[in-house]
Amino acid sequence: MPIKYAKRREQFLSALGGLAAVIPAAQAQRHHADVEFPFRQDSDFWYLTGFDEPGAVALFLPHRAENRFVLFVPAKDPLAEVWDGFRWGVEGAVTHFGADLAHPLEQLDELLPGYLEGAEGLSFRVGRHGPLETLLLQCWAQQLDRAPRRGQGANRLEAPCSILHKMRLRKEPEELIRLREAARISAEAHELARAAVQPGMNEMQVRALLEQHFVASGGRGCAYPSIVAGGDNACILHYTANNGVLRDGDLLLIDAGCSLQDHYNGDITRTFPINGCFSPEQRELYNLVLAAQLAALQQVKPGNSAEHIHQTAVRVLVEGLRSLGLLRGDLDGLIEQGAYRHLYMHRTGHWLGLDVHDVGAYRSGEHPVTLEEGMVLTVEPGLYVSDRLPVPDGQPQIEARWKGIGIRIEDDVAVSASGGEVLSAAALKATADMETTG
Ligand code: GLY
Ligand code: MN
Ligand code: MN
Repeated sequence: MPIKYAKRREQFLSALGGLAAVIPAAQAQRHHADVEFPFRQDSDFWYLTGFDEPGAVALFLPHRAENRFVLFVPAKDPLAEVWDGFRWGVEGAVTHFGADLAHPLEQLDELLPGYLEGAEGLSFRVGRHGPLETLLLQCWAQQLDRAPRRGQGANRLEAPCSILHKMRLRKEPEELIRLREAARISAEAHELARAAVQPGMNEMQVRALLEQHFVASGGRGCAYPSIVAGGDNACILHYTANNGVLRDGDLLLIDAGCSLQDHYNGDITRTFPINGCFSPEQRELYNLVLAAQLAALQQVKPGNSAEHIHQTAVRVLVEGLRSLGLLRGDLDGLIEQGAYRHLYMHRTGHWLGLDVHDVGAYRSGEHPVTLEEGMVLTVEPGLYVSDRLPVPDGQPQIEARWKGIGIRIEDDVAVSASGGEVLSAAALKATADMETTG
């Protein structure tokens, strides 16, 4: 089922009212000297066009009767294509990407004012696209100068995010298929990694195995820098050094996901004992995180909110930490004061889609956004026991036997009519499955 870009554009155009939208592609980014990072398209631009070249600009012109989707693209250039690869050019922009009209990028300065003429306002994200922003503001200023004579002109400048990100938050059936695929490949990689891990290996070998699988399965690579964190490294939430030796007796936390060619992402975390057997403390904390995750997953259903899912996980974790003697005091008081945050310092999940931390609001004014069918989010509680953060006043000091244990369990979940579809279920997580027998 191909993604229906044209349908999205129609929806976007009608939501714009009389505003003309200018949506830029990402620019190539310099890595060092004359070497560039692999190109990553801007997700909003990609969502509306599926066009994968840097520097392009898309115009959405609802104030016009025709030619309402216009693309400015890098022109065909044999020499540039010899060095950097194929370009679709203006003809391809029309024939393959459905532009009503296309022009070479070089003509943007000259043609943009005419295209914006007659719009009631502009829809553009300021602050991110320097030269284009300057050009656009010049066009706007010219229109404002002429407006009193003509009796009309663009008055408003709005960011397109409120429209686009609402669209992106609810996934189409075609997008759910892609997210299932990203989660499937990601889950396979986690299973391969767990089967391969042995004491004495290096974190980087595990990283290589995961990322080899992403690419060999047709993905572009990782959705984000993989986290392969043995022992205490797991208590560093964004650990990406991935160069430590895996020690007998430690846990290994792997947070890694595949990004597909069309940028849909997986984001899975699993934690297991490197030698195949939990210590008593590791087992207690693993069971607790798993219980919190399962309780939170139960709450993924239409009408609930990400906030409610987070609070569910927090309550289970805090209750468990109290029984283990790692927290002291009244349950509600501990939650209210955040007295658990030296052990659990992040939220329980985020939207997932073309961006790993996908767009879309979590609150609407005073109220949390309620879950609807088609939304996709992660559910990822954890516990991190280390000396990095001070123990809050009144809370017990932590015995050495608990330290150096970092655990997170993360799944990708689509909200369905009846609850939540766990897209990453193929990555096992039951306590017994994390241990090797025999
Ligand atoms: N891997 C990033 C996250 O879990 O949010
Ligand atoms: Mn995540
Ligand atoms: Mn993750």
